[in-house]
Amino acid sequence: MKISAIIDRVEKRVAVTPETVKKYIGLGLEVILPQNIGAMAGFPDNEYAIAGAKITKTAFVEGADFYVCVRPSFLEAAEIPTDLKFESGSHLIGILSPLQHEKSLRKLWEMGVNCYALELIPRITRAQSMDVLSSQSSIAGYRAVLEALSLYGRVVPLMMTAAGTVRPAKVLVLGAGVAGLQAIATAKRLGALVSAFDVRSAAKEQVESLGATFISVENDDSGETAAGYAKEMDDDYKKRQAEKLSEAIGKMDIVITTAQIPGKPAPLLITEEMVKSMKNGSVILDMAIESGGNCALAKKNEVVQVDGVSIIGKADLASSIAQDASQLFAKNVLNFVSLMIKDGNLDTTDKIVQSTLLKNLSGE
Ligand code: NAI
Repeated sequence: MKISAIIDRVEKRVAVTPETVKKYIGLGLEVILPQNIGAMAGFPDNEYAIAGAKITKTAFVEGADFYVCVRPSFLEAAEIPTDLKFESGSHLIGILSPLQHEKSLRKLWEMGVNCYALELIPRITRAQSMDVLSSQSSIAGYRAVLEALSLYGRVVPLMMTAAGTVRPAKVLVLGAGVAGLQAIATAKRLGALVSAFDVRSAAKEQVESLGATFISVENDDSGETAAGYAKEMDDDYKKRQAEKLSEAIGKMDIVITTAQIPGKPAPLLITEEMVKSMKNGSVILDMAIESGGNCALAKKNEVVQVDGVSIIGKADLASSIAQDASQLFAKNVLNFVSLMIKDGNLDTTDKIVQSTLLKNLSGE
């Protein structure tokens, strides 16, 4: 069987690295890659070749059984580009965003291509090594702090100098899941005074273990479902939460928002009024922008300025650290593909594999 990867003009990350090439060969696969596949992520062709991959001059490798990708931008168009000659029975694996790319994925389905959306991998222990959302959110949470700092005109840690003392920056992180915890850890390492908020009471311990202060909203409920995900809270809770946030936000220099409830639009946590209560020079980075945003004024891939507050809505944070993000992504993909090969033969029956396979794309 042959495995290849899709080259992308927009996405800098790559789904196969020289390290994973060796592992695929160990699984009995032949690896054939279009030239420059990892160029934007810092992996030159010769490293892939040394690892055992065959490099082709064509931009698309015909006849492969598996095609791996990160977030393929070709799915944005309703039609599949004619140079992507997928064969019936081949397998496309990546973050495919079926809700946004229904038309193009239906076309692939009609062509007989089996499409696996990695974002649908269940967050269960056995699937942790394949969880692309977690690996990319960790990188993105780290990057979010650096992005916010690039627009923050002050220093972060406490500085005591002969010319006077500079107070440390106050950072607030909303949502203490994968991205949020990484943002908290990053801001702490830089010397900020960090506080965080999450609806799940279980997050308190994790936030505190990183040395940050947890902002609590009184509640009898744990704030999470049996599966451990955040619950949509009732109006009374939301009102108390808004009061707490309004009180805290005016004192903050940097706010990173990461709140999400799987499958739902992002909860609106920062209103226009709250933004206007912030100090001149403060920065908000809304990580949840792709699912609607946690801040009312954030716009996707724009920096909005309101009363001296910068609001960043950058949607490709992990792609900005393409090399490390690719290393992790490619390992996630390798672990996923490994599930599909049993004794050298294709076997797609594993529950994790099946949970990502896009079915019912007929449009009926
Ligand atoms: P996660 O599911 O691990 O964490 C989300 C957290 O939000 C959970 O802890 C949850 O309890 C909390 N939450 C839910 N409702 C809340 C509320 N009303 N108030 C406070 N907290 C609430 O998700 P993860 O992986 O950390 O991702 C976070 C967000 O970042 C997602 O929207 C994701 O799409 C986005 N993201 C953005 C990237 C970018 O480049 N902009 C890259 C990676 C992730």
